[in-house]
Amino acid sequence: MTKTPVGINRTGRKLGQKVKKGKLKASSRRWLERHINDPYVQRAKLEGYRARAAFKLLEIDEKHQILKGARRIIDLGAAPGSWSQIAAKVTNSTDDDPRVAAIDFLEVDPLPGVKILQLDFLDDAAPALLMEAIGGTPNLVLSDMAAPTTGHHRTDHLRTMHLCEVAAHFAIEVLAEGGHFLAKTFQGGTEKDLLDLLKKNFKQVVHVKPASSRQESVEMFLLAKHFKGRRQVEVEADEDAAADD
Ligand SMILES: C[S@@+](CC[C@H](N)C(=O)[O-])C[C@H]1O[C@@H](n2cnc3c(N)ncnc32)[C@H](O)[C@@H]1O
Repeated sequence: MTKTPVGINRTGRKLGQKVKKGKLKASSRRWLERHINDPYVQRAKLEGYRARAAFKLLEIDEKHQILKGARRIIDLGAAPGSWSQIAAKVTNSTDDDPRVAAIDFLEVDPLPGVKILQLDFLDDAAPALLMEAIGGTPNLVLSDMAAPTTGHHRTDHLRTMHLCEVAAHFAIEVLAEGGHFLAKTFQGGTEKDLLDLLKKNFKQVVHVKPASSRQESVEMFLLAKHFKGRRQVEVEADEDAAADD
């Protein structure tokens, strides 16, 4: 379903197009050329997705089956909305019975079946508002959040890692047993503490780099599958403590 597009033109446009030298700065021209020649951008248009990011989620799902059986989904960092589009489809979410809640501090154009909050996820009120919006226990928490870039690599990296950590704590607070958590992270960037936390709470934790994530980008995804459930984790912690005595 999500084969890597090759340099063909399914939208009727040729790949390998150049942008004329003119008023654009060289870096902007390079970005534009890369964008218009990106087969995933063209394919997103063709298939009606708001962003090429759709294919990252679809490719991860193809390999790890996280969408199948998802009944309620929370989408963190949702703009412009391609992951929410997929989430609404797989949960059969409708405006009358919404099963997807999404948050972004940017505006997201309305999507059928998706309750959209325009708010910073780091705002203290965000977790409760998301839970109120979704109206039930989610079994999938997605986070594609990336901090706005400052140009200072290390700062950008730390901010996105912080978002990933807060998202992980949120997932552990709200997920149904057996649920999954997927979050954007950076190559080599996942802190040991976060990995340990996820390994304690989920049966399987892996890093994933889908083909549609640009090779030159340090972006990776952290996938934690099969949430053990808050009670089970407490039992295991008690057992560990008893064994230490
Ligand atoms: C890569 S984009 C998400 C693309 C989206 N998954 C899609 O398929 O359309 C990352 C988003 O994270 C959002 N974001 C970053 N930090 C955030 C925060 N603290 N709270 C809410 N949204 C945030 C950004 O505004 C941006 O829209």
